[in-house]
Amino acid sequence: MFQERKVIILTGANSATEKAVLALTIPPQHKIEISKLDLSSFTSIKSFAQGLLTRDSTLPLNLLILNAATIKSTLSKTEDNFETTFQTNHFSYFLLIHLLLDRIIWTSEQQQQRADPFISRIIFVSSSLHKQSEGHKNFESLDVENLDGSKGYDGLLFYRHSKLMQMLCFNQLNKILEREAKEKVSLIAIEPGFIPQTDLSRESAIYIKLLMKFILPLAPFARTPEQGGMVIVYASTSPDLEKQSGLYINKCCKVDKASEDSYKEDLQKNLVEY
Ligand SMILES: NC(=O)c1ccc[n+]([C@@H]2O[C@H](COP(=O)([O-])OP(=O)(O)OC[C@H]3O[C@@H](n4cnc5c(N)ncnc54)[C@H](OP(=O)(O)O)[C@@H]3O)[C@@H](O)[C@H]2O)c1
Repeated sequence: MFQERKVIILTGANSATEKAVLALTIPPQHKIEISKLDLSSFTSIKSFAQGLLTRDSTLPLNLLILNAATIKSTLSKTEDNFETTFQTNHFSYFLLIHLLLDRIIWTSEQQQQRADPFISRIIFVSSSLHKQSEGHKNFESLDVENLDGSKGYDGLLFYRHSKLMQMLCFNQLNKILEREAKEKVSLIAIEPGFIPQTDLSRESAIYIKLLMKFILPLAPFARTPEQGGMVIVYASTSPDLEKQSGLYINKCCKVDKASEDSYKEDLQKNLVEY
């Protein structure tokens, strides 16, 4: 897949993306671009998608990695008046997919004409935390009546639920694509494992930040950012996954099951109707 020239577009809301690109080395035939994309703004999503689609009507789009996410310490709303975690981690991605899907399908069709077995992939970076509502009476189930946080807010709970919503819509979208665009798009969800050194806890209390930075990386179950990244690379490029869709890949790069809740049709329907 990566033999021919590729344009890799990294997106971000601030200058951290530029720093990340400086640290990357890629083969000279490929090109990296940086594009501004703020997942907490539907305007930003639309403008990014429109820019991508109109810059070159033959630009192929064969891999979309949905990695960014946030955990907020307090309830906040976006300019679109949605709770920030849900919009950033979930709603925006589905708007982005909606806007880019035709190009993604078109790319697969082009590849099929050239007998290239790689069909376009969309990688959803999930989290095992989306499973924790099951079998734990202390964890609340997703309440579709409280998506705005008006009935109570807990940052970690909303993060877990954003990841559950992502998997509910992942499973729903997979069914639709199996019916309407079979073998044109491959949806793959992954969990990278627990990686305490990342910035995901940036809004947490100082003692949690210290725990994440200095103590938890020593835990036997902790993983490094490189190990987590390898799961994304595997899901994005492995020929083992060709022509498969709807797979959930765990931190050991093995096919696994997402949470039971995420396959529940009534929950999927409630969310899509919301
Ligand atoms: N760390 C873990 O233990 C763990 C476990 C399971 C799953 N995950 C998942 O792994 C993925 C990566 O997280 P991470 O742990 O690497 O955390 P991270 O270091 O905080 O990375 C999250 C990224 O999301 C970006 N982001 C946040 N809000 C954004 C917005 N409104 N618009 C655009 N980009 C935005 C951040 O960009 P800026 O830096 O520019 O703000 C950052 O690059 C997430 O999907 C997370 O849920 C992580």
